[in-house]
Formats: sequence, C-alpha cells, structure tokens
Amino acid sequence: MKFFIDTANLAQIKEAQDLGILDGVTTNPSLMAKEGITGQKNIIQHYLDICNIVDGPVSAEVIATDFEGIIKEGEALAKLHKNIVVKVPMIKEGIKAISYFSKKGIKTNCTLVFSAGQALLAAKAGATYVSPFLGRLDDISSDGMRLIEDIRLIYDNYMYETQILAASIRHTMHILKCAEVGADVMTGPLSSINGLFNHPLTDSGLKQFLADYNKGN
Ligand code: G3P
Repeated sequence: MKFFIDTANLAQIKEAQDLGILDGVTTNPSLMAKEGITGQKNIIQHYLDICNIVDGPVSAEVIATDFEGIIKEGEALAKLHKNIVVKVPMIKEGIKAISYFSKKGIKTNCTLVFSAGQALLAAKAGATYVSPFLGRLDDISSDGMRLIEDIRLIYDNYMYETQILAASIRHTMHILKCAEVGADVMTGPLSSINGLFNHPLTDSGLKQFLADYNKGN
C-alpha cells in the first residue's frame, strides 16, 4: 500500500519524506487555508514547494465546478510539474472533466466520494485515483471502511485500474484496516503514520539490549 501524507504543512511533509516511506501528498483548499496559504499565486507556489520535497504524486484541487472551468484550471495545474495530479470533485461536471483528462493523459484524483456508485462512475471516467472519505463517513455513524471494501470488490470484478486512495484517515488503525481490505493508497496526517511505530515491547526491549551491552563496556 502506498503512503501519502494529507497536509499542506511543509515541515510535516519533509518529516514524512525523511522517513523514506512516503509515496506522495494530497492537499485540499481547507488544508491550504489551515497553513495560511491563500490566493492563486501563493497556492501555486506551494504546490511547487511540495513537489520539490517529494518525488511522487501531489494532488492539486481545482476550484471551478463547471466543465470549462475545471478543464482550464486542471490543464494549468498539470503543466506546473510532472507529479501534479488534478483533484476534481465528484459532480457531473467533474466526471465529464475526468473523462476528458483521462483521454489527454492527465492524471486525476476524484475527490469527495462517499458511495460505491460514485466510485464506479469515477472508474468508468478513467480516474487515476478515487478518494473515498472514510473518516467523514465514520463521523456520521456510517461505516467508512465498508465503503473501501465495497469499492475494492467492484473494481476487482471488472479489473478497473483506478487506484483506491483511502482519504479522511484520522488515526493509525484506519491505516491498518485499509491495508487489510486492500486500499491501493492511504492518505493521512503525520500523526497517523507515526502511530505505526509505537509498541511498548520495542521500547522496553531496546532499553534492555542497550543496558546489557553497556554492562560489558
Ligand atoms: O484529502 C481529503 C481529506 O483530507 C479529508 O480529511 O479529516 O478533513 O475529513 P478530513
């Protein structure tokens, strides 16, 4: 499973990159705003800054919601850097745009996906990635992980190449469960990735090894 980090915070992206296990980055307008990055010029520069840290797919989201606007914005984003993936919302105009981008060889990430039917449309349109938001489904007492399983089954039935990018990951167990059910990619905060390191037996075992080594020195 590929690991993407879901943030626009450059220090956290760098920290994850330095671990040597990072495959890519996802952002959205809310994550940009959280870092105080506003205005088209600054946002574009920020995408370039991210691309300079990570050599892997970087999702950049369009703001337009009409077909012509999505195409114009998406083509401009795709030209910024070879690793940019154009992130397009799951709406009718978005699906039309994903189909257009797919034929042009522009990579896409279909975002704000909350049902298997929406994921089926994204695959038929030729999306490179589909982003089911599992945490937000959990937030409203719906089973986010069940959605990932349903999409996996449907995509495998027809051998769709669209990669399932499990998004809205909130914690470490989400990552593990995504790996169990076969998500192709997970995108989560740095804290969810760091949680994978933790085990008290690792800590106590290492402490003991070092203490025993030092007895003879
Ligand atoms: O990339 C989509 C994802 O960031 C949404 O996460 O935590 O805002 O639901 P969250």
